[in-house]
Amino acid sequence: MMASNRLNHKTAELIDSLKSKDKKRVLFVCLGNICRSPAADGIMHAIVAEEGVSDIEIDSAGTGRYHIGQLPDHRMRVHGRRRGLEFDHRCRQVTASDFDDFDIIIGMDSSNVSDLHDIAPSPEAEYKIVAMSEFFNPSTRYDYVPDPYYEGAEGFELVLDLLDEGCHNLFNALEGR
Ligand code: 4NP
Repeated sequence: MMASNRLNHKTAELIDSLKSKDKKRVLFVCLGNICRSPAADGIMHAIVAEEGVSDIEIDSAGTGRYHIGQLPDHRMRVHGRRRGLEFDHRCRQVTASDFDDFDIIIGMDSSNVSDLHDIAPSPEAEYKIVAMSEFFNPSTRYDYVPDPYYEGAEGFELVLDLLDEGCHNLFNALEGR
């Protein structure tokens, strides 16, 4: 059973269609690809390693091009390390070909999701776009992952809490647990 009941019908159908695949390729997307999506990428890698599964591949990218080639924001790396997580993704921009290379493309907020719809090369590609908040617990009082870039420490902690919850629920959904 899925741990989250926030999944809309289309997302539940998409995830169902991935269950029989040898590889489930997940791309996390935010604006800068230096705070939220590389954190989601690192958390999901940690869950996959901890659970010892080999059928989930993970990457992240940004809709913007401000920080290409850079490591994640120093503050996000520090907050991650406090939880035993090392975020070492190199920033890259999302491209139309990502829609061929990934099965599910997860935007952190509604503006990421809307930008992804603009970039998607076909209706089939658009079908792969999902909001991260669909994987939050029903009781969680957020319906997006807030951009921590102009926030203080609490903003980074909030993002990590939301992503930890969302990534565990995403993992369980992909693995049919
Ligand atoms: P992210 O945060 O989308 O979570 O990586 C941001 C990082 C950088 C900028 C905006 C958001 N920026 O404008 O440079």
